[in-house]
Amino acid sequence: MVHDTTALNRRMTHFDDHEAIWLFGYGSLIWKAGFPYLERRPAHIHGWVRRFWQGSHDHRGTPEAPGRVATLLPCPGAVCHGMAYRITPETLHPLDVREKNGYLREITTLHFADGDTAQGLTYIATEDNAAFLGEAEPTAMARQIAEAHGPSGPNRDYLLNLAEALEALGVEDPHVTDLARRVRTHASADIEPRTR
Ligand code: BEZ
Repeated sequence: MVHDTTALNRRMTHFDDHEAIWLFGYGSLIWKAGFPYLERRPAHIHGWVRRFWQGSHDHRGTPEAPGRVATLLPCPGAVCHGMAYRITPETLHPLDVREKNGYLREITTLHFADGDTAQGLTYIATEDNAAFLGEAEPTAMARQIAEAHGPSGPNRDYLLNLAEALEALGVEDPHVTDLARRVRTHASADIEPRTR
């Protein structure tokens, strides 16, 4: 299932004339950037919760057996903790391609631990994108994550690396913690060593 969002994101020229942009990461970006950056700081955003509700047919799964990766769902009053990267606008281009399976750029306000704020971007896969899977029973989501595997590696590594990175940041995310506990105890989950 492919719904290429690259062209839609390229039309979002909001920050093109800026020297640098803050990019908020809440998924794999917390533990692995994979692009050059000027600065990296823990940050949070308001009004969103992290959920493993986006299907991954191209990175952590396949079209036949999609994995589950993180997206953000609107939730008034919620706070989502993650990692902010200060990058040049050109750095977004490869990210638009890497995250083309449903993720759209969203402008948001980033909050830093010292009380500073900044306007920036994050990538969100909304409910209307073709790869959106939505909620399922926790046992079913954990089984899917434990078993899925794609070109970027096992789906469980994405989840467990994220769970460990959040723990290292001192962030408690019950949705991630619960899925990670279930995946760790899944019978077939711990056969191969983890990858990044
Ligand atoms: C992230 O890790 O925050 C992320 C990056 C690109 C698309 C979706 C999520």
